[in-house]
Order: sequence, then C-alpha cells, then structure tokens
Amino acid sequence: MPSVLLATFKPFNKIAVDGIEKICKDNGLTFGKIEGYKTQEELYSAAESAEACIVRSDKLDEEFFNRAKNLKIVVRAGAGVDTIDLDAASKHQVVVENTPGQNANAVAEMVFALLIAMKRNHFDATSGREIRGSTLGLYGCGNVSRAMIEVSKGFAMKCYSYDPFLSDEQIKECGAEPLHDLKELFKCDIVSLHVPATPQTINSINEDLMSLMPENGVLVDAARSEVIDEDSVISIFQKRPDLGYISDVGFTKIDELREKIGAAQLKKQLIVTPKKMGAQTLESNVNAGLTAIKQISAYFKDGSTIHQVNGKAF
Ligand code: 3PG
Repeated sequence: MPSVLLATFKPFNKIAVDGIEKICKDNGLTFGKIEGYKTQEELYSAAESAEACIVRSDKLDEEFFNRAKNLKIVVRAGAGVDTIDLDAASKHQVVVENTPGQNANAVAEMVFALLIAMKRNHFDATSGREIRGSTLGLYGCGNVSRAMIEVSKGFAMKCYSYDPFLSDEQIKECGAEPLHDLKELFKCDIVSLHVPATPQTINSINEDLMSLMPENGVLVDAARSEVIDEDSVISIFQKRPDLGYISDVGFTKIDELREKIGAAQLKKQLIVTPKKMGAQTLESNVNAGLTAIKQISAYFKDGSTIHQVNGKAF
C-alpha cells in the first residue's frame, strides 16, 4: 500500500484533511500527516518513508529529496512551485505536480475584500471611496486573474492585462484588454500582481512603475514577495501619500516605512495580511487538497502525471 504524507506547515481546514484521508482509504493508500511543524528536520524525518507527499508552500529542498528515499510523487496543493527544488526532485526521479486554478477564487475574493477595506478607510466611520467603475490592471492572466475578472464584473470595472506568455486573443477571451507594456498597466486605478517569482519578475515592480499610477491608485501583491522592491514602496509612499499598497506576501521593512511616513499614514496606505492568506478558505483547501490526492491516486493506478511541472524525462 503506497503511503501518502500530507505535509503542511500552514494546515488545511479539517474537512479537507478528512476528505484526503477518505480518498486514501478508498484507493488503498495509507495516510499520514505532519501539520504546523516548526523545523525542516521534522519535515525530513516525516517524509523518510513516504511514497507520495501533498504540500502547500512547504520548502522541499535538496536535503528533503535526499532523505525521502521512497518518494515517487509530490503534489503541490496550489499553484506556485517556487518552494520546491525541481532539479533535486528530477535527480531523484520524483514527479512534481501542482493543482492549477484550485485556489484561484479564494485569492480573488480576498483581493476585493482588502481593496474595499482600504477604500473605505477600514470602516472607521469616515467617508470612503467606491471601487465601482475603476480600471483594473492585471499583471499575468492566469487562473487568479481570470477569477479577478469574473468578480470585477459585479463592480463594472474595465480590466486590462499584461502577460507576455499569452496572445492578445487569449487575453481577450479572458475578458481583459491586452497591453504590451508593463508601464501601460500602471496607468490603471488598481494594479494587481498575479505572476510567479521568476528571473523576469523578481524585483520588477519598482518606483519607476509605481510613480505612473493615477491619483489614489492601489497596488496589490497577492502573488510573491520577491516581485516587489520594498525600498521602492518606501520611497514612493513618501512622495505620493495618495497611493495604497495591499500585500498578502508580507512587508519586511514595515518598521522603516512606519518611521518614514508615520503610523496614521501607514494605516491609510498599507494593508498587510498576517500570513499569506489568499488560499486560506475551506473551499480552496478542499478543492486543492482533494485534487492533489486524486492526482496521486491516479499516478499509482495508471502512471498518470497530469500537471507535472518538472519535465517528463528524468
Ligand atoms: C499558490 O501558489 O497556490 C498560492 O500562493 C497559495 O499558497 P499556499 O497554499 O501556501 O497558501
């Protein structure tokens, strides 16, 4: 009986965990879990006997693959695989898959909730602004941006997207107007980043771009922290007290920013979620978690490797 380990430092909702366990039982797989672990060592030793792993943004480094000697497949219950050493996985002939789109709606809903919270001054009894009719610029036009476009229809927004990997036709089919220059995107009232951390995107969002934003523009990063240059946020906020930044990826220099612009202005201009919260819903835990275990089950049944991300040939 192949053994499956659910390894999540940021645990799934119990309903999702129970669902994964049930699918294991129904498909002749043994189930184990390690949740909320504190050290990599705990993860390494839990994975030593596993043949399959389900993870979130857990760090699977070379040491993990060296130690997990029986491992055949890892499924990232989510989209981003930047926390997984794909070369090490391939070297050990471990298939790595993700579950694209399964948590996209959760991220989109969160972005709109935070946008409204910022525009309404956190509902502090003062008069705020509405987002209806705003222009929305989406960097990347993948699953999360598509969910954003769906939600934006209720707010009568006009959507634009810059995605160098898609054709104009593909972007139009998603319901957005294609743009061919990132600078153009920053003319939108709201710019939301939905790109992975790659050599092209890392530190790509800087002061030059942010300075192009219209009055009261808001930038949102619900993707990856590496994409934003935090020093640029600190610098532009001192010149442009009208701008806002919403981050679901932390803000490491928050003390420096507070010192530069003051606590009251910080509250006005910045929202940072306590942890990466975009995919933290029951629904997305169930969607991504159950999809992951179904992919594992199919792999052990018939060798299916749908959504493999580390190349077929080892
Ligand atoms: C993803 O890449 O799927 C999202 O960033 C969510 O990540 P998480 O499962 O670690 O919250």
